[in-house]
Amino acid sequence: MQTNEQLLDLLENYLAQRELPTEPERLYDPIRYSLAGGGKRLRPMLLLLSCGLFADDVDVALPAAAAVEIFHNFTLLHDDIMDNAAVRRGKPSVYARWGGNVAILSGDAMLISAYRLLAQAPPALLPRILEVFNTMALGVCEGQQYDMDFESKQKVSVVEYMSMIELKTSVLVAGSAMMGAILGGADEEQSRRLYQFAIELGMAFQLQDDLLDSYGGEELGKTIGGDILEGKKSYLMVTAMSRADEEQREVLRHTYKDAALAPAEKIARVRAVFDALDVPRLTEQQISLRFDRALATLDGLNVPDARKEPLREYARSLMGRRK
Ligand code: IPE
Ligand code: IPE
Ligand code: MG
Ligand code: MG
Ligand code: MG
Repeated sequence: MQTNEQLLDLLENYLAQRELPTEPERLYDPIRYSLAGGGKRLRPMLLLLSCGLFADDVDVALPAAAAVEIFHNFTLLHDDIMDNAAVRRGKPSVYARWGGNVAILSGDAMLISAYRLLAQAPPALLPRILEVFNTMALGVCEGQQYDMDFESKQKVSVVEYMSMIELKTSVLVAGSAMMGAILGGADEEQSRRLYQFAIELGMAFQLQDDLLDSYGGEELGKTIGGDILEGKKSYLMVTAMSRADEEQREVLRHTYKDAALAPAEKIARVRAVFDALDVPRLTEQQISLRFDRALATLDGLNVPDARKEPLREYARSLMGRRK
């Protein structure tokens, strides 16, 4: 059996050997830039590891693994336009480097490339794979729209926030795991359980993303405080709002759009309220809870325990991540 490192190498090689046309440069260069640019490869790794639970040879799942990674990178191209984000993986985002129009069209081409790769699935499994992929892809769009809508919504509950991140992030993580399971030969019940495992893992992952956005270090490769400056209803913001007194609520509500303040000052003011309300610790708690639920769901999967170890190890490696 391959180690997780070998599996990642296999995936990187598969992605690297795929050739893209050179012209038009402003269509394909951003795609190369995005795919080469230091992503963690979470979704394709989960896909391959889920396949490996049921099959010894995961080569059959490589095209689908590449497809979910390309799809993910497509969502990031468009997400950075929507979030006004100039930095991604420590470099200018496609949007900042080439502009919004290029980010839109290169993103569209990536979505099409993802479908081309998916079409390589074994014909007998293709209808199920496509159904999982399409449901998940529409879910991501729905989640992204809620994320945007929430920016201008006065009150967002924790429940509303959770269903938003389930859509924008978890369904892609979970759809990836489910596709891997299907390609490995899992039955209905097994692939559903794996989906549930990855939903919880995806929730933990997005909660961590929110925490790192306000409290992370340079290694995150994104503008720290970006969510605060955009007025995002992150888990931190939603939790803080539910605990704040009237004065604190004013700060949380209005600081990000106060034209008299420099960005660093806005971030400092909002973070001071988060700190006073114990929000970072409460977020950590929620992250641990979701990780524990994910691992418990994996425990309940009916495959030999030794086979689960690589996936378990991979899930654990995500805890306490800094990028
Ligand atoms: C960023 O995803 C978007 C979220 C859903 C939080 P990742 O943190 O997986 O991004 P890369 O691909 O590793 O850069
Ligand atoms: C990620 O949400 C969701 C998608 C890209 C679909 P974020 O907006 O929080 O992701 P980052 O923080 O920019 O990576
Ligand atoms: Mg976003
Ligand atoms: Mg974003
Ligand atoms: Mg984020």
